[in-house]
Amino acid sequence: MKLFLDTANLDEIREAHSWGIIDGVTTNPSLIAKEGGDFVSVIAEICEIVQGPVSAETVSQEAAGMIREGRLLAQVSEHVVVKVPLCREGLKATKALSDDGIPVNVTLCFSANQALLAAKAGATYISPFLGRLDDVGQDGVELIEQIVAIYAMYPALGTEVLSASVRHPRHMVQVALAGSDVATLPFKVLSKMVEHPLTESGNARFLKDWSTVPDPDVVGQVERFLAARKG
Ligand code: G3P
Repeated sequence: MKLFLDTANLDEIREAHSWGIIDGVTTNPSLIAKEGGDFVSVIAEICEIVQGPVSAETVSQEAAGMIREGRLLAQVSEHVVVKVPLCREGLKATKALSDDGIPVNVTLCFSANQALLAAKAGATYISPFLGRLDDVGQDGVELIEQIVAIYAMYPALGTEVLSASVRHPRHMVQVALAGSDVATLPFKVLSKMVEHPLTESGNARFLKDWSTVPDPDVVGQVERFLAARKG
């Protein structure tokens, strides 16, 4: 399963990337606006850091505009994935861009039927928004399960399920169990995934106990041991 970071914040991206567990990044107009930088420069910098798929969203409402923006964005970096909204114009743009060999992430997906259409249009990724479905009283994880099951029955479609609008660590377990190919998550959810109170208290206990051993200098001990063994 691939993990993408859902942010345009360069500090968060650098930090998560340094952990060695990030495969890509997704952005959207809201996330770009929140950071306040120049859209294209930010996308170029993210691509430079992650060296993996980076979703950059089109803002045109017409297919022709989406295609134009998408073709230009794809030239910013080989890592750019063009993100288009799931609507009639978005499907047309997905078809045209994917025919050009440009990877497309079809976003704002809220039904299995929409996911089926995006796949037929040639989407590389489909982004169902599970958190926003939960917000309106529907079951976001159930949608992920449906799309994974449908795509598995028709592997020739070739579209990857990218679970988006992830709100908490439990969502991550649920979409992983559902077989989602990718999940994109905010940095705060990623941080919560790392943490567990028993890990913290366990580590503190190990350190306390270690402070009672006669020689707590591991590096020094190993170096002396290796030197002695070498003769
Ligand atoms: O990037 C798209 C999606 O992940 C947005 O999430 O939390 O704004 O619903 P959210």
